[in-house]
Amino acid sequence: MLELDKIYYEDCIQGMAERIPDESIDLVIADPPFGINFDKMGSQYNRKASLVIPGYSEIKQDYEEFSHGWIKEVYRVLKNTGSFYLISGWTKLREILNAIAKAGFITVNHIIWKYQFGVFTKRKFVSSHYHVLFLVKNPKKYYFNKIDHYPEDVMNLSSQNVGSPVSAMDEYWLNYMENVWEIKRPYNRGKIKNSTKLPEELVEKFIKYSSRPMENGKKAVVLDPFMGNGTTAVACVKNRRNFIGFEINPACKPTIDQNIAEARVMIRDLRDESREKNRQRDIISFMEKGSKQ
Ligand SMILES: C[S@@+](CC[C@H](N)C(=O)[O-])C[C@H]1O[C@@H](n2cnc3c(N)ncnc32)[C@H](O)[C@@H]1O
Repeated sequence: MLELDKIYYEDCIQGMAERIPDESIDLVIADPPFGINFDKMGSQYNRKASLVIPGYSEIKQDYEEFSHGWIKEVYRVLKNTGSFYLISGWTKLREILNAIAKAGFITVNHIIWKYQFGVFTKRKFVSSHYHVLFLVKNPKKYYFNKIDHYPEDVMNLSSQNVGSPVSAMDEYWLNYMENVWEIKRPYNRGKIKNSTKLPEELVEKFIKYSSRPMENGKKAVVLDPFMGNGTTAVACVKNRRNFIGFEINPACKPTIDQNIAEARVMIRDLRDESREKNRQRDIISFMEKGSKQ
């Protein structure tokens, strides 16, 4: 039986094999270590050593072999209707692409996530993007939630008005559905974190497009094999999805626990606020009815 809303502090390959049944997961979000010894790079990224969680685990074996090891487990646990978003830097992209093809995944989109700053360079261009591979098992069956607007409508709307400027709304939706996503990296000044942290906005986008919203109390299950700071778990709490994850570095646990606890408080406060608003609205409408009688 799959235990939900739980993070195991262990190797994800062994963890998935032992704990997760076949075809039980709706969505996988994975941001694996890049195999570039990131632990030693804190200073290049202008981070204070005291604010970086120690023990970031890098890959010692052949990167393609490691990648195939965990990606084939993801293939086994993902439902036929499920999706898998895999984040990769350019340096190991070849190994990742080989591993996903070997596992049997089909690529729906190759998304570019453009962020706002990169590492300082002297004799080359600054890297300011990551690759996000949107992968599925079955291109005819995967779930995709086209959140209340259709890009085709926007295109038609815009082409009817050739020569006139595209409206701000059109532009918003065009950008939203394009496969280049401009999303800022989080700063979280003064907060302790793992050496890399994804923006919540990016992870929420995966969740909202590729997993069902809660229905009759049933939540979709999202797996993150490399939790880091717990960004996926936080986004799941905020968007009412169940999560399950792995993180090999136990030093991440206090940060992850705190981030999840803060998200739960935020959701509870929002719920209380909306209950209070409803209560006040009911009182006002009751009094209005009374005064008319
Ligand atoms: C790029 S970071 C993930 C960051 C995360 N997406 C976030 O937003 O905070 C990769 C994480 O994978 C962990 N890791 C490395 N090898 C692992 C393994 N075999 N199993 C589970 N976690 C592993 C590292 O310790 C690191 O925290």
